[in-house]
Amino acid sequence: MVQRDHVPAFRVQTGQQAYEAVVNRGVLWRIQEFIPAHTGKVFLVTTQDVWDHFRASVEAQFPSGSLSVLFFPGGEVNKRLSRLEELAEQMMEAHADRTSLVIGFGGGIVTDVAGFLAAIFMRGVPVLQIPTTLLAQVDAAVGGKTGVNLKNGKNLLGSFHQPLAVLIDPEVLGTLPDREYRAGMFEVIKCGVIRDSALFALLESRADAVLAQQPELVDELIAASVRIKAEIVSSDEREDGLRRILNFGHTIGHAIEAETDYVRFLHGEAIAWGMLAATRLAELNSMLDSSTGDRIRRLICRYGPVPPAGNLDAARLLAKLSSDKKTIQGKIHFVLPVSIGEVKVVPNLDSALIRQAIVESLQ
Ligand SMILES: NC(=O)c1ccc[n+]([C@@H]2O[C@H](COP(=O)([O-])OP(=O)(O)OC[C@H]3O[C@@H](n4cnc5c(N)ncnc54)[C@H](O)[C@@H]3O)[C@@H](O)[C@H]2O)c1
Ligand SMILES: [Zn+2]
Repeated sequence: MVQRDHVPAFRVQTGQQAYEAVVNRGVLWRIQEFIPAHTGKVFLVTTQDVWDHFRASVEAQFPSGSLSVLFFPGGEVNKRLSRLEELAEQMMEAHADRTSLVIGFGGGIVTDVAGFLAAIFMRGVPVLQIPTTLLAQVDAAVGGKTGVNLKNGKNLLGSFHQPLAVLIDPEVLGTLPDREYRAGMFEVIKCGVIRDSALFALLESRADAVLAQQPELVDELIAASVRIKAEIVSSDEREDGLRRILNFGHTIGHAIEAETDYVRFLHGEAIAWGMLAATRLAELNSMLDSSTGDRIRRLICRYGPVPPAGNLDAARLLAKLSSDKKTIQGKIHFVLPVSIGEVKVVPNLDSALIRQAIVESLQ
């Protein structure tokens, strides 16, 4: 962690770029500090709901005429190349050039789309990410993965495009619906399981205060998660090794999202089910003792409820697993917990065991 005027900022150092993810109440008011000199026009990609909440704070920071706001309709169904092309056309109409800067201002869908737009507009312009959901703050906006969906799956078109900086202002979560907040909290739980037993213990002992969004606690949880993401991305930008552990709960979670057409569950909720299944799989594979498994299950349930997954078909989920883009040469890699704070990546698990874990956990 580096201190920037006594503000927690986490350094992400990749081959492509070194930058900071700043976690600070009020950083939304300091956007100009992060815009390099000689930047041309600024294009802010957002959704109407987010803009309605924060327009006054953002607009006040830009001299008139220097900011163009591009509206994206939001929702997984609109996270498509055709929408991105529309945004690029709007940039051209507003005289964008290679000195232009894109800002992603919204949830993970917006930061993914804005990042990809910046990655390919005139072969690449810089992007500044300002995530406004808990999920985007602790996960999506940090790490440079950008992309859009194809009919056959999520994020199948995309690019690694690291931002100039990530400005994380926990204050903006005040307007977030409770369900979205809880969904983001499942990614925080994930961080605890994969790498930080103290974070896990904090989520256990202060659950009531976390769910009541006590500010100091929210800031601490976001900072802990961003620190983990920044460390992991810095050591493995392209997910050849360590970065894979961020996929705990995502192998089965992605299959659940696909099987339910991305509408029944929020991303974090599908990951909650995926973590439950992966935890059971670790037990069945004799990698995790049942009392630790129970601790993980209890914590996930504490941050629920999530919509029930009971009627999902295990065979169909298994079939979906092998078409996931994380499947490499037909091998499904599972990230399985071995203790609180430590996971192992396991390839080639017996499909009967995977099926049993799915059946036993998705009830
Ligand atoms: N690039 C990555 O590494 C990465 C990692 C995880 C997830 N993702 C992507 O993130 C996306 C999910 O992101 P999400 O969960 O943020 O969903 P989202 O972007 O759909 O946002 C959720 C909803 O909250 C609204 N919203 C956003 N900020 C708000 C605020 N402050 N107050 C009130 N409402 C607000 C949004 O308009 C939207 O309706 C998925 O597409 C997923 O693939 C990417
Ligand atoms: Zn996720």
